[in-house]
Amino acid sequence: MSALSELYQEIALCQQCEIAKHRTKVVPGEGPEDAEIMFIGEAPGWHEDQQGRPFVGPAGKYLDELLASINLKREQVYIANVIKCRPQGNRDPLPTEILNCRQWLERQIELIHPKMVVTLGRYSMALFFPGKSISKIHGTALKQDSIIYFAMYHPAAALHQQSLHQTIQADMIKIPSLLAQTDGIAETKPQPQQLTMFED
Ligand code: URA
Repeated sequence: MSALSELYQEIALCQQCEIAKHRTKVVPGEGPEDAEIMFIGEAPGWHEDQQGRPFVGPAGKYLDELLASINLKREQVYIANVIKCRPQGNRDPLPTEILNCRQWLERQIELIHPKMVVTLGRYSMALFFPGKSISKIHGTALKQDSIIYFAMYHPAAALHQQSLHQTIQADMIKIPSLLAQTDGIAETKPQPQQLTMFED
């Protein structure tokens, strides 16, 4: 069994948060173990909770379209979320839920070691660009430990707000050239907050 499959089994046993009791299925994430790009959304919604797969509802359809715009299929990338269980009523994730789930995401990144992590939305962005505002930093990248982190709006935000359509599409098409230049991009000096990002 692959290390990633073993991790999925561990995630499926997790009962650290109250929301674990209410989930239909846990949504650990999916994609190739050697994916070059990892997209990280916020949390499973109703469709994802039903199927145990990330981004399979309307936001997922839109993500598929965005991927197609850069000639990628979802099978070629890794897709995960900040939290692995659906918050009831699609509320925002709680800080304790993000903290409890952080270990899983951290291990996914370690195992996959993507060249690029694309954060989708504010919650995902906050893990890698702490203290920043999405309206200011979407479409920008930083490099740490040889991984490029690139911030984008959440596809659901663009579905609800027509004015973000062009923005999210313009950000998406920056991905191939960033990926091609990974070696040439200088490491960003970690800020104190970034150093503590994955500590308990
Ligand atoms: N929104 C997310 O952030 N993640 C999903 O998996 C689906 C919708």
